[in-house]
Formats: sequence, structure tokens, C-alpha cells
Amino acid sequence: MTAAPEFGPAIPETAAPEVEFISLSHLNPSTELNPIPSRGIDLKYFRRYVRSLEEGGYDYTLLPYGSNSADSFVVASAVGQLTERLRPIVALRPNTTFPTVGAQKLATLDQLTEGRAVVHLISGGSDAEQARQGDYLAKERRYARTSEYIDVLRRSWTEPGPFSHDGEFYKFDEFGPGFAPYEAPIPISIGGQSAEAFQVGGEKADIFSFWGEPLDDLRSEIERVNAIARAAGRATRPRIWVTFRPIIAQTDRLAWEKARDYVAKVAATFERAAYHAQQYRGTTPQNVGSQRALAFADRSELYDRALWTKTAAVTNAAGASTALVGSPETVAAAILDYVDRGASLVSIRGYDTLADAVDYGRYVLPLVREELAHRAATGRRGTLQATHLGNYGADYAQHATAGQP
Ligand SMILES: Cc1cc2nc3c(=O)[nH]c(=O)nc-3n(C[C@H](O)[C@H](O)[C@H](O)COP(=O)(O)O)c2cc1C
Repeated sequence: MTAAPEFGPAIPETAAPEVEFISLSHLNPSTELNPIPSRGIDLKYFRRYVRSLEEGGYDYTLLPYGSNSADSFVVASAVGQLTERLRPIVALRPNTTFPTVGAQKLATLDQLTEGRAVVHLISGGSDAEQARQGDYLAKERRYARTSEYIDVLRRSWTEPGPFSHDGEFYKFDEFGPGFAPYEAPIPISIGGQSAEAFQVGGEKADIFSFWGEPLDDLRSEIERVNAIARAAGRATRPRIWVTFRPIIAQTDRLAWEKARDYVAKVAATFERAAYHAQQYRGTTPQNVGSQRALAFADRSELYDRALWTKTAAVTNAAGASTALVGSPETVAAAILDYVDRGASLVSIRGYDTLADAVDYGRYVLPLVREELAHRAATGRRGTLQATHLGNYGADYAQHATAGQP
């Protein structure tokens, strides 16, 4: 149990006034809980998954990218055609696509979805993974390339006539005018936690993304991004995206039973290297995001109201892995703690992928939205955070440690 902060009616100054929800699109029913040895697309499942997101009230879905994954652009285009409102976020590694071609593909997706396209630029967190597709640039330099990539993307979308470019990484002559986005510029998001990621994100990104971190750590990282944005003379600050893998059940006690069951299954899967095995061999990860997640897991299993790090520890923090554990009310209150620290984009994806997407849509999203509607209407904080204390209260702490030596 950790000491409870005040959850009085005053809305914190750092709070984001709105929140939107992100998921990640799974292509088949294989999960870390129950890996099915297939890398293929199960079309029926995929359709159902994507439509469940739309019905559940999600705003975005991330189409991740790896050298052995499906192509994120093609999948994003399918998402666009299967939904009316959901916004596909294409994960894109600059080394895989020349920037004017990337701009063209994104603008095409944006027109096909009437303005719903978003791009998440992945600079590359592992030398071995980058080398699989012929990229041998040193990790720190990859962010300089991302920075140049952003400039070319934006110019390709807006320049009314032909233009040439002679940069450190890209050179071309007389491109343009390129194919334009539907109406507004396409939002550009940056993932990565290294100093170089912060620099380019703070200077140029519309969105800067994190995996789930303890509240105070996240807040200081947000301040770091904002300071870089300010120093760069930006009038705006990047929106903050934070990612969790919630484990929910009807009560906190039941959620903890589920969490213990899940972590045993997930650990067994990773020991057998049965899920995306290529990326998860047990060496120290090169990307700072995973290193940070492992350091948090080392320091403590449980933080704040409901943040659980054991799922990161057993997966070598390969990809988003930190959980929020509790009843829908506790998890919604924990999400609001992050909104209070300045996060306005919340990604939640479960370990039981499809069932969790449906459950979050039914039980978690409405609670968070109700609270924000209450705040907008009254200028005051509601009572959810004060009444569902999670680890700020004694009962929860007992459930969390039940069965431990
Ligand atoms: C929300 C989020 C989503 C990500 N999605 C991907 C992805 O689809 N593919 C990938 O290779 N890396 C992904 N990453 C990882 C990193 O962005 C990327 O590998 C980065 O270069 C990590 O390096 P750094 O943390 O040392 O800066 C994601 C990170 C975040 C925070």
C-alpha cells in the first residue's frame, strides 16, 4: 500500500482536458497467454477485432511494424475500410520507405479514410532487427534520420510546387506537388525513450509516446519533452500517449487472481520463446524504453494506484508490457491519474486481446469519459479516484500480495 494523495475537487493544473483511447490491432487470436503457432492473418478474427474496437468506442488503433510482421500500411488500409470512425496509426520505420513515398502512402491512406490517418515513426531500437532489413546506421543517428524524414513528410504534403532536397540522409530533385492529405496535416507520433528520441519528439512530433511508467517518472519525462519543445520555440506541446496492458475483473480481488494466473502463463510462453520468439531472446534490450521498464520492475512490483511491473519482468520488457490491475473502477481511476499528469492519449490492450478489447470498451472507457464530462461540465473533479483507491487503500494491498511468501 502506498500513501494516498489528495483526490479533492480541484482539477490538477497538469491535467489533460480530454482523453482519447488507442488499441493495437491483432491479426489472429494468438496471444502471449495462449500462443498459436501461426504468423498469418485470420481474416474473420481480424474483422471482428477491428469492428469490436469501433463498437467499443476506441478512437485509434496502432498497426505495429517489425521485420517479420504484416505490412502496417496494407493493414491500416484494411482497418480504414472496415470502420467508419476508428483512426489507423501506421508504425513506420524510416529505413523501410523513402520519405516522399512514405508521404504519398500516408496521404493516400488519409484520403481513403477521409482524414483518419496517423503515423508513428519508429527509429529502430535494436541493431539486429534493423540489420534484418539492411539498415546499418548507428542507433543515435537513426533519430537524426527520423528528424529529416519528418521535414520531408510535412513538405511533401504541403509544398504547392516541385522542390528538391539535399540532406544528410535523403536527396532528390524536383518532387512535387505530392499527393495531399484529405484536409488537415497527418499527425506524426514518435516512440522511443532515448535522449535522441526526446530531442526529435520535443522539437517536431505532434504526439510523443510512452509505455506505462510510475506517475512521477512519467510527469518528469513529460516536462522533459515540454522543455525541449519550448527551447525549440514551438507554440504547441506534443500530445502525450501512454500505454498499458490492463488486467481487469469484477473486483480488485478477482483481478489479482487473474493477474497471477496470467503472469505464470506469459512467463511460460516467453521461456519457451513461443511468441514472436525472434525479438525476445533474454539479452539486455538496446532500446531505452525497455531498459526503463526493466529498471522499474527491479525497483518494485507495484506502483501508485494499480501499476504492476511483473509482466514487464517476465517478458524482458519486449514491447508494451506494464499492467494496470483491478476492477474497472480502479483501472479507470488509475487511467485518470495519468490524465491528471498530462496524458491525453491512453493506449490499453489486454493480454486476452479480443475479450479484453470488448471488456474495456464496455466497462472502462465509459467511466473515464464520464469523469471527463463531469469535469468539463462542473470544473471540478468527480469522486471515482477518491472512492476506488486501489493500492492507496488497505484491501487492495492485501489482494496484491496474497499468496506471496
Ligand atoms: C507506443 C509505442 C509503440 C511502439 N511500436 C513499435 C513498433 O511497432 N515496432 C517497433 O519496432 N518498435 C516500436 N516501439 C519501440 C520504439 O519506438 C523504437 O524501437 C525506438 O527506436 C526505441 O528506442 P529508444 O527507446 O532507445 O529510443 C514502440 C514504442 C512505443 C512507446
